[in-house]
Amino acid sequence: MITIKSPQKARQLIAKTKAKGLCLGFVPTMGALHRGHLSLIRKARAESDFLIVSIFVNPLQFGPKEDFRKYPRKIKQDRASLLKEGVDLLFFPESAAIYPEGASVFVYEDRLSKVLCGKSRPGHFKGVSTVLVKFFNIINPDIAYFGQKDYQQGVIVKKLVADLNYNIKIKILPIIREDDNLAMSSRNVYLDDKARIKSRCIYQSLALARNLIRKGRRDTDKIILEMTQLIRSKARVKIDYIQILDANSLTKLNLINGKTLIAVAIYIDNVRLIDNIIINVKK
Ligand code: PAJ
Repeated sequence: MITIKSPQKARQLIAKTKAKGLCLGFVPTMGALHRGHLSLIRKARAESDFLIVSIFVNPLQFGPKEDFRKYPRKIKQDRASLLKEGVDLLFFPESAAIYPEGASVFVYEDRLSKVLCGKSRPGHFKGVSTVLVKFFNIINPDIAYFGQKDYQQGVIVKKLVADLNYNIKIKILPIIREDDNLAMSSRNVYLDDKARIKSRCIYQSLALARNLIRKGRRDTDKIILEMTQLIRSKARVKIDYIQILDANSLTKLNLINGKTLIAVAIYIDNVRLIDNIIINVKK
């Protein structure tokens, strides 16, 4: 595995690889790799001739009061995992190389970014979109892999690629969970044992929604109310949002119909956790 920090050097090496007609797979990450990340890397390894993984804790996608400084950084451990997974190139740039001083061009998706996490984290998706466009320009992959864990991010990336005419296939892979069903996340290390038990209410609320829908319930307001009641009865946590949306347009549904996103975000002791499920209801 080659590790490259310089965007210019990465571009040169990748251009040579691409000229050989190889299929380039790309998995962007912020590091502190867990089984969720590894599931993307394994799928990408199986489908591409040359596999690039990036590790970059992107300052632009963190709000001023968010956890940029304390976000876990475990490059030694991460490098060992990537080596084991047979990754060809680790792109590990410095912040200054991605955001040169005086940078004033940013990328902002203007519709899908305004709901869910975009509402509670202003500027977050501008940061995500900007860094991904930069990475796509440097790497020019054939396929890029994302997790359903950040479902809204995946929808925005697909729109970015469509609207900005990139020739990149975007794949969204399923959520990998801990044994207690908590969605794996680099931020789970912030949770102590008590918080970890509280966190179970997230998946329980999603499972409740799924059961209600299976039983024929379609009224989103009532399902959201039952999910809220379940969370409130289990743990004292701060609910950021519980929403049921059309999974493609991310617009609100009154009655569930077609491909539906059920998404939850809560704070437990100031740690923000998100999770979701997708349900297909026949029209
Ligand atoms: P990060 O949080 O490191 O996640 C990298 C990728 O791993 C994302 O596509 C995310 O959805 C996926 N992922 C995380 N947890 C997962 C899980 N439990 N199961 C399946 N996939 C999971 O998302 C980012 O970084 C950044 O926003 C990034 C795209 C790198 C841009 O900076």
